Amino acid sequence: MHLDHFTGKPTCIHGGRLPPAEKRRALQHDHRLRLEALARLSAAAARVGIGTDPDDDLVLWESDEIALLAEADPLWHELYESARAFRELLPLISLEDFGFPAGVEDLLAECGSRLRPISSGVEATAFEAKDHSIYKFFMPRSNGRIGGTFAFRRTEDFALVADASDGSYRAMLEKFNLIVHLDGMPTEVLGVTKNEGVLVTKQTLGKLLAEGADTSQVQPAALIAIPSRFLRAYRDHPRLYFLDGKPWLVADLHSKNLVRAADGVLRAIDLLAAPLPADLVAKEPLLVDWLARALHDPTAALLRPVHDDEL
Ligand SMILES: Nc1ncnc2c1ncn2[C@@H]1O[C@H](COP(=O)(O)OP(=O)(O)O)[C@@H](O)[C@H]1O
Ligand SMILES: [Mg+2]
Repeated sequence: MHLDHFTGKPTCIHGGRLPPAEKRRALQHDHRLRLEALARLSAAAARVGIGTDPDDDLVLWESDEIALLAEADPLWHELYESARAFRELLPLISLEDFGFPAGVEDLLAECGSRLRPISSGVEATAFEAKDHSIYKFFMPRSNGRIGGTFAFRRTEDFALVADASDGSYRAMLEKFNLIVHLDGMPTEVLGVTKNEGVLVTKQTLGKLLAEGADTSQVQPAALIAIPSRFLRAYRDHPRLYFLDGKPWLVADLHSKNLVRAADGVLRAIDLLAAPLPADLVAKEPLLVDWLARALHDPTAALLRPVHDDEL
């Protein structure tokens, strides 16, 4: 079994080599388990009155703090157990594990010799390691938010208007899960740094597309175009995706968020997504009807071919 150079943990990602399909399926399972563990932890925290939004405290929490309480009370016992189970799937790590100096302020400038900076974007600071694997570091903001997602509202003209908004750790883990479910670039979640709350992922290296290349015709096959009357999203290529039967808005698969993998297939490395809000959807019977049909027949669901300019 191959071990990651930085964490010493098993990994299936080595540079630009695409792991076999069976390993990629195992990755899907891993992401799902992590999200389930976080949902269990959130539910347990809510039951004892601990806030779960923003979720930074929850995600960084060390269960040892309540080991004694856990013996006395079933609700605290469940909180303790769920925190321990979650920690197995999202270990606390340190930036120093990746060669950064203690107290590092600028990841790009102080990354040491084992990582080569390749990009510093809105959400992630990305590096290429000596074996060509990609490592990404996602910084939380001072308000406890991290990454991005969508917030929805209803207007007179649209059943749903989707505005990009601050994300959460859960939204990030959901994003990685979606990337893998869309058969995007294999993505592992390595952990979260104890001191800074930086979420760290590892991804298979791909070839960049020409900047500004039109990707509207090469979106992942599972994505469904959304009739423009239902949704206005201020992002590129808004699409519908059913994850375990639940409708999601997936967007932002433009030329910088798709890369060509070693097998020649274009694969997602990044996206912006959120589950459609059930309460707002319910207010629009036509949308409810279309979603019900699209779930079973994504192609028949298209009322007419829509060009991205109209979305
Ligand atoms: N797996 C990858 N293979 C090749 N280049 C990558 C990979 N992941 C990221 N990059 C480069 O880093 C940039 C930023 O990464 P991305 O995951 O899109 O984060 P963000 O857009 O949130 O900063 C990408 O646009 C791309 O240029
Ligand atoms: Mg990006």
